[in-house]
Amino acid sequence: TDAARAAVAAHTRHVAGFPEPGVVFADLTPVFADGAALAAVIDGLAAAGRGPEGAVTVDLVAGLDARGFLLGSGVALRLGVGTLAVRKAGKLPPPVLREDYQLEYGSAALEIPAEGIALEGKRILIVDDVLATGGTVSAAVGLLRRAGAIVERVSVVLELGALGGRARLQELPGGAIAVSA
Ligand code: PRP
Ligand code: HPA
Repeated sequence: TDAARAAVAAHTRHVAGFPEPGVVFADLTPVFADGAALAAVIDGLAAAGRGPEGAVTVDLVAGLDARGFLLGSGVALRLGVGTLAVRKAGKLPPPVLREDYQLEYGSAALEIPAEGIALEGKRILIVDDVLATGGTVSAAVGLLRRAGAIVERVSVVLELGALGGRARLQELPGGAIAVSA
């Protein structure tokens, strides 16, 4: 949305050489710390969970560790659904489903609970701050599908297009990826 784009343009810091040489890190911390900017970003993300008539089309919002958590809960409240934290490995009690992946700067693993939440057939909106190489979202899609859920949309604040995330997410139709800013 225009409001989300303006908020991100006004408040994002670009930091060269973090977290390693060669990376220009887009730091959205000041966006989230500004009330109006945060609201604009949450509204932009939540739009991906509604159909053309405004009806909510998802059953659950999945927020990706850690910055996706800041956003996922707000998006879920806006849509009137619950939220699931897709966690970095080692944080959740067993049993879990685990998926290892690469990202722009290193490798990591994500986990979701294998018991306690009925994910079978649930329509999911994945929420995160930045789509970079797509490794994180791809791992989350794989996990949620293994649990029997249906990934309807992926909603991110910012896409770093040069890193090819969209091309990596071949498992999703192009229209499934929504970028707010
Ligand atoms: C960042 C960002 C996304 C991911 C994007 O998270 O918040 O989740 O990387 O990169 P990708 O598209 O190349 O996978 P990070 O893993 O640094 O974790 P954090 O949110 O805990 O800081
Ligand atoms: N900013 C925030 N998160 C990221 C980035 C970035 O530039 N690259 C990969 N994840």
